[in-house]
Amino acid sequence: MSEHRLPPGPRMPAAMQSVGWWARPIAFLERARARFGKTFTVKLLGQSPFVVISDPADLKAVFTADPDVLHPGEGARILEPIVGPTSILLLDGSRHLSQRKLVLPAFHGKKMEALSEVVTEVAEREISSWPEGGQPLHPRMQKLTLAVIMRAVFGLERGERFDRLISVLTEMMEFGTSPLSLLPPFQRDWIPGGSWPRFRAARAAADAEIYGLIAERRAAGDAAEGDDVLSTLLLATHEDGEPMSKEEIRDELLTLLVAGHETTATELAWCFERLVRNPRVLARLVAEIDAGGGDYVTATVRETLRRRPVLPMAQPRKVESPFELGGRVYEPGANLFPSAYLVQHDDGIYPDPYEFRPERFLDQDPGTYTWIPFGGGRRRCIGASFAMLEMDIVLRALLSRSEVRATSRGVELAARRGITVSPSLGAEVALTPRVNAPAAPEPAAVS
Ligand code: HEM
Repeated sequence: MSEHRLPPGPRMPAAMQSVGWWARPIAFLERARARFGKTFTVKLLGQSPFVVISDPADLKAVFTADPDVLHPGEGARILEPIVGPTSILLLDGSRHLSQRKLVLPAFHGKKMEALSEVVTEVAEREISSWPEGGQPLHPRMQKLTLAVIMRAVFGLERGERFDRLISVLTEMMEFGTSPLSLLPPFQRDWIPGGSWPRFRAARAAADAEIYGLIAERRAAGDAAEGDDVLSTLLLATHEDGEPMSKEEIRDELLTLLVAGHETTATELAWCFERLVRNPRVLARLVAEIDAGGGDYVTATVRETLRRRPVLPMAQPRKVESPFELGGRVYEPGANLFPSAYLVQHDDGIYPDPYEFRPERFLDQDPGTYTWIPFGGGRRRCIGASFAMLEMDIVLRALLSRSEVRATSRGVELAARRGITVSPSLGAEVALTPRVNAPAAPEPAAVS
């Protein structure tokens, strides 16, 4: 599509827009909206222009478009070295749908109930090892959500294999946090000082561990017994009755790890960053947790995801055939980029959008196209319910045990870390044991 037919946007050179986009993404989005409105075009170095959209009617049209017309998978292609070619993040059209159908059952009904117990166990264990005093919560949350994924997705408890796999996976994911290393020109063995050879070695080691795990589980034939996601994938079959290949299973496990670990950890870090700076909300939340209630906890999780979406943008959708939106026809090659941050900070939808106020979700469920921290349509986050369940469990576990206070008065800025936007100081808080901690429930009588 010729560029002059795209909506107007910042006129700075692409290099300067890229710096703003990477260094201060939220300020960049706010400034562009103030100048150009809910829809504008952003130009980033080495990429075709992105049209940022944030009007609920446009979001609905994009999320419900024909899967052959808009392709989100293309935008995630840079993740291929980590997640592999059959990852649902990367596929489009019918191949995406059939792969997604194989993974979805792992996060439904009974499976989720079983996962809830697993998450509670892991969260309690992790949190009980945290020291008192001032500390950034983000790294602690990262360790916690990684342990949760290893158990809930891979079925692994702490032990030698757990440690080996965590060590190589962490090395692979570190590679993914550098924007340069994800660009194909930098993925060469011969670049002096480049991290590509180390990454390839870590990936080979991770693959060997995961294939070993799959082979053992298949040989033991106990897949049906497991409550983890791997069990579901081992039993899943394609439409022609064929089981998933070990490469496909590996790709989806890695996808769930990459998509589900850092996002949830960062969202939890933001939740506490917001809570300690909003003592009224914190006090009400603690009272609700002590009373065993649920509505205010859910509302707090939803408000965190509104106020601080860790992915301020869903995946960009590449236009494959002419697509009409808001009175304009987008030609193949254009990219439509739904913004959760902007629609969730639209004062026509959310009064006082910069206030952290869970009450807004007490009488009203979030709207499908006005609350989109998990994206939407056929690409909506597969782990959304799981992530919210995990946040609920961690909030309860930590606030029942500890008093949480701010260590500074200033607000933590939104800083980019890889693809997520996280609190600039790592969500610094002070933890002290609660003097009035609620009594532990009586153990159930055994008859
Ligand atoms: C608070 C935590 C999380 C947030 C904010 C989040 C957000 C998102 C977003 C914005 C997308 C793109 C949706 C779109 O473009 O329409 C996505 C996709 C995805 N997420 Fe999450 N996510 C979180 C946690 C998780 C967890 C825990 C898992 C799995 C264990 C997970 C697995 C996935 C997968 C597999 C996709 C790709 C879906 C597809 O393309 O069909 N996410 N997530």
